[in-house]
Amino acid sequence: MTRLIKTKSVPEGKEGVYDHPFFQGLIRRSLRYLSSGYPVHFTGPSGVGKTTLALHIANKRQRPVLMISGNEDLSNDDLIGAYKGYSRKKSDDNFIRTVRKIEEEVTESWVEGRLYEAVKNGYTVVYDEFTRSRPDTNNLFLSVIEEKLLPLYGAKSKDSHIKVHPDFSLIFTSNPTEYVGIYETQDALLDRMITIPFQMMGKEAQVAVVRERTLIESSKAEKIVGLLEKVNELCEDTQDGLSLRASIMIADIAEKYEIPIDGNNEDFQNLLLDTTFFTLNLCNEDTEDLRERILGVCRNV
Ligand SMILES: Nc1ncnc2c1ncn2[C@@H]1O[C@H](COP(=O)(O)OP(=O)(O)O)[C@@H](O)[C@H]1O
Ligand SMILES: [Mg+2]
Repeated sequence: MTRLIKTKSVPEGKEGVYDHPFFQGLIRRSLRYLSSGYPVHFTGPSGVGKTTLALHIANKRQRPVLMISGNEDLSNDDLIGAYKGYSRKKSDDNFIRTVRKIEEEVTESWVEGRLYEAVKNGYTVVYDEFTRSRPDTNNLFLSVIEEKLLPLYGAKSKDSHIKVHPDFSLIFTSNPTEYVGIYETQDALLDRMITIPFQMMGKEAQVAVVRERTLIESSKAEKIVGLLEKVNELCEDTQDGLSLRASIMIADIAEKYEIPIDGNNEDFQNLLLDTTFFTLNLCNEDTEDLRERILGVCRNV
């Protein structure tokens, strides 16, 4: 399925988390690169805040923002556009009632693809999880970035391409575990963007995110984030550990159901197990006693 969304309605990371000097610097540099015509690419594990940051930066550019979600079914037609439809004309004869003329005409009309629209009008495009799309689809972006032209492959158009608007810019996100060296196109694309590896944010920033998303009080948010950091140490492969989403879910549910953030409370223990066990199980070769190990960490908070 193709998902192309205008991003006005997508929640944006509020100031607060991004007030931190680390993010301030990152945001300033990214805006510079984009204004100089270079795409920026945030890559890192799931749930570390890549998409939220990409949208935040995109919104700072004061241009319309378009989000494209990478997926296998994304096609050139979706991106460039295509001629679609035909028209059918019906007319009744004014003199002889029984005569009805039906003209069927194939007048196809051009339906602009989303990238076409963005390139033409200078939008900021957030291409989220771009490595999930097929490499031949992503090929289009090579000439958009390098030659500043969008080729109109297979569009039956008179023009072979359109020019990229000077304000157009691209922010990519990806998860490196999903692409490691599989496709040459992705490599060629990667060569044309400024790639910034993105890891889990620091503890303070995580607490700020949890508070922002749940309105939980800060001592509780700190406890949850601290606990999850400890629990995450049970992960052998640190690339695939717990994401920010786990902390947000725990804080949200604990707050709604008045579950105390107490490692000896059974409701809290179950909430922790339900939100973390599956991920921790995936990132451990030895899964024996994993439940017990998680509970062990939990009881010590
Ligand atoms: N700056 C932020 N402010 C508020 N919430 C944030 C912020 N950054 C991330 N989040 C939240 O953390 C979760 C993971 O962020 P997301 O951007 O989807 O991560 P990724 O794209 O790396 O998987 C989401 O629920 C998101 O809303
Ligand atoms: Mg994302």
